[in-house]
Amino acid sequence: MALSSAPGKVYLFGEHAVVYGEPAVPCAIERRARVDVERRTDGKLRVHAEDLTLDGFTVEYGTATERPDVDVSQSLIRAAMGYVDGAIEQVRDVTGEADVGFDVTIESDIPLGAGLGSSAAVVVAAIDAATRELGYELEPDELAERAFRTEYEVQEGQASRADTFCSATGGAVRVEGENCRAIEAPDLPIVIGFDGGAGDTGKLVAGVRALREEYEFAADTVETIGNVVRNGEDALAAGDLEEVGRLMNFNHGLLSALGVSSRSLDAMVWAARDADAYGAKLTGAGGGGCIVALDPTEATETALKFTPGCEETFRAELAEEGVKRLE
Ligand code: PMV
Repeated sequence: MALSSAPGKVYLFGEHAVVYGEPAVPCAIERRARVDVERRTDGKLRVHAEDLTLDGFTVEYGTATERPDVDVSQSLIRAAMGYVDGAIEQVRDVTGEADVGFDVTIESDIPLGAGLGSSAAVVVAAIDAATRELGYELEPDELAERAFRTEYEVQEGQASRADTFCSATGGAVRVEGENCRAIEAPDLPIVIGFDGGAGDTGKLVAGVRALREEYEFAADTVETIGNVVRNGEDALAAGDLEEVGRLMNFNHGLLSALGVSSRSLDAMVWAARDADAYGAKLTGAGGGGCIVALDPTEATETALKFTPGCEETFRAELAEEGVKRLE
C-alpha cells in the first residue's frame, strides 16, 4: 500500500491569461487530496472517492469504457473517473507495467471544480502513490509533467501547467508556457470564500478564446493581465501586501471584463473589499466556486459569513510542501 497527499492552490494572479502564454502565479494551500493505492492482481481498477462534493461512492471496472452504476451525477463521475483513469495510464506508461490494476481510495478536503485545483491534487497524489506502490519514485518535475499530461488529455488540451506544477512542488510558483519555477512569497493571510458551486472550465476558457478572437481589446485585456502578474511578482518579492492586494483587485476587474466572474463571486469579492481586505479576486476558471482575499484580520471572514451566496469561508495557509509521501 502507498499513500500520498498533494495540496490544492489558489491563483494569486494570471488564470485564463496563462492559457495564451502570459505568466501566472498560483500558490499551494494546505487543503489536500490524499490518495491511497494498493496493487490488484486481476488488472482491474477499483476507485473509492470521498470528498466535499461527492457523497462517498465506489466503482469497480475493468476498462475505462464501462459505465459505473452509482447514484451520483454522470458529470461528477466523469470528472472523478477521468482523472483517475488518466493518472493510472501515466503510471502504466512510466513503469512499463501495461496491465497493472489498483484499488484507489481518494479523500479530499478540496471542493471539486471550484478553482482550488482539486483535480490536479488528486492526479499528482494518485500518480505518486501508484508509482511508489510499484517500486518507482518520480522526481517532482517528472511527477508534475505526468500530472500535466493527464489534465491536458482529460481537459482536451485546455490545461496549463500551473495547477499540476504547483500541487507537485508546493509553495508559490511562476508559470509561463512550459517554464515553471518556485518564487519567494511573504506570509500570505489567505481567506477563501466558496459559493458552493463550480464553473465549467472548458466552457469558460472557450468563452475567453472567442472574445479574444472577436475583439482586439479583449486580446489586449489578456495581455494586460500579464502585466498585472509581472507587477504582482515584484510586489510579492518586496513583501508589499498592500500592493499585492491592489493588483489582485485589478486582476479581478479584468477577469470580470472577460466574462468569467459571476454574481456570487462578485458579491464575495465586494464583501472582502468592504471589509478592508488588501485585495480579493476570483481564483481559477471562474463562473462560480471560490474567491481568494488577503486579510490578516477577522473582518473578511466575518463579512463573508453574512454574504448571500457565500456558503463557506475559511483561512488557508500556504503549503510549503507539495506532494507528501505518507506511507
Ligand atoms: O479552475 P481551475 O483550478 O481548473 O483553473 C483553471 C485555470 C485556467 O487558467 C482558466 C485554465 C488553465 O488550465 O490554466
